[in-house]
Amino acid sequence: EGVRRRDWIHVAALGTAGVGGIAVLLPAVSQMAPSKDVLAESTTDVDVSAIQPGQSIKAVFRKQPLFVKRLTPEEVAEAKADDAANMRDPQTLAERTTEGNEDILVTMGVCTHLGCVPLGAAEGENKGEFGGYFCPCHGSHYDVAGRIRKGPAPTNLEVPEYSFTSESTIRVG
Ligand code: FES
Repeated sequence: EGVRRRDWIHVAALGTAGVGGIAVLLPAVSQMAPSKDVLAESTTDVDVSAIQPGQSIKAVFRKQPLFVKRLTPEEVAEAKADDAANMRDPQTLAERTTEGNEDILVTMGVCTHLGCVPLGAAEGENKGEFGGYFCPCHGSHYDVAGRIRKGPAPTNLEVPEYSFTSESTIRVG
């Protein structure tokens, strides 16, 4: 019995390490319900190579929705032109992306008003008046760089800590 329990712990530890695995594997892994501190330390790897310009994907980071979007050249130009606009939470595109990869926008998919999941990451969803994300709960409009432009949300969609671990992969957390 003791041996079997130890085996189980070993397997569980492997499973927890798997939280850092590729995003598409997360739904299965998350059923293992890692403890709170393991969750707080966990990272999520996302393969960004398959994301086409203009496309977003939804992943999960520390049990919350994560949006990863590849901006089109037009969206990059629009976001840069808007850097100088009068904003509630002023941030430039460069401040919200990493150097050399300003077309990859990584944000939490959590509205900064009361925490709903904004629309706009899936094809055909309402992107709002500024072409980024739209929160249907109380009508917050985020621009192509995930910056709040209209509605009650106080701040931009949060950009979590992340870095590129290869040309095609980011590690969030
Ligand atoms: Fe998004 Fe209120 S929760 S606008």
